Amino acid sequence: KNTALIDGFGRRIDYLRVSVTDRCDLRCTYCLPKGFKGFEEPAHWLSHEEMARLIGLFVGLGVSKVRLTGGEPLLRRNLTDLAARITALPGLRDLSLSTNATQLARHAHALKEAGVKRLNVSLDTLDAARFAEITGRDCLPQVLEGLLAARAAGFAPVKLNAVVQAGVNEADISRLLVFALEHSFVLRLIETMPIGDTGRQAAYIDVTTLGERIAQQYRLIPQVLGQGSGPARYWTSADGGMSFGVITPMSRHFCAACNRVRLGVDGTLYLCLGQNDSVALGSLLREGASDDELLAAIHAAIAAKPERHHFNETPDKIVRFMSQTGG
Ligand code: GTP
Ligand code: 5AD
Ligand code: SF4
Repeated sequence: KNTALIDGFGRRIDYLRVSVTDRCDLRCTYCLPKGFKGFEEPAHWLSHEEMARLIGLFVGLGVSKVRLTGGEPLLRRNLTDLAARITALPGLRDLSLSTNATQLARHAHALKEAGVKRLNVSLDTLDAARFAEITGRDCLPQVLEGLLAARAAGFAPVKLNAVVQAGVNEADISRLLVFALEHSFVLRLIETMPIGDTGRQAAYIDVTTLGERIAQQYRLIPQVLGQGSGPARYWTSADGGMSFGVITPMSRHFCAACNRVRLGVDGTLYLCLGQNDSVALGSLLREGASDDELLAAIHAAIAAKPERHHFNETPDKIVRFMSQTGG
């Protein structure tokens, strides 16, 4: 049945996040498992063709927004080829990408050509030493180069995602704000989530409070409508010249307005970032399922989407790592 995807709580699912690899060239302390290594592409990873088939089924069911994530999506071979296949799906309106930008300078132009509309870049600090501490690699200049290349390729606005950790990069936020303002990037402050043991070990800080303090300091006005399709809340300056946002899954969650599900690199459909519920669409596909059978599996999965996460009540619940679902 090609009817829209409505879950058991009346939420319309029109946004799919696709993790195209769980590999990354960085080792952010709150994201990857410790000691993670990976070189070969395992056989259970779906090919671009298989990915495009699954994504096409979702788009046929009214999903109009797709975001490519990782790990680091630009490490996936020929990502632009997958991007172009997705762009070509009738009904697709918004293809976006979340990246750490280390390789972005090389790829920005081709991504634009392939139809990627929006870029979100992870950046927690502008202090080179702290960047190396957080990510395990001393490559801040590469990231900044990537950001400027994105601008030059015509991506606007580019969003900056900063995961805020108490006592780690708290003090770096104002410099990030000034930098964002200078280059018209939209900075978003993100609360750490207890996903995987590395995620649980991060030093949590309430970003709702931090955001309100910044808004007051810069005399910013809360924005009523969101930007993009995500869970962020924004503030803007009176002249519209500055805008920044917060993503607060812990201090003020946004599950009631959830519009999304996630596809892992092996075709596992994760129904909620904060729950373990999943359906192995990749296995079904490889067992030779027809489109109708896959569509039925997708509908059944969405009907069983959990209401919300319970990070605060049961912080030990999610064993998988952020790198598996791309946030
Ligand atoms: P826009 O459409 O540009 O607003 O993007 P986005 O916020 O959907 O995506 P992005 O990849 O930039 O994610 C930013 C942060 O929000 C990451 O830390 C994600 O883990 C977090 N996030 C995104 N979607 C969800 C969600 O459904 N639930 C929770 N708890 N966190 C989410
Ligand atoms: N908690 C919150 N955000 C996280 N990210 C990675 N791990 C975590 C975590 N444990 C963020 C990345 C990126 C986004 C896609 O997810 O920094 O900005
Ligand atoms: Fe949606 Fe789950 Fe994220 Fe809440 S935690 S917004 S229900 S994916």
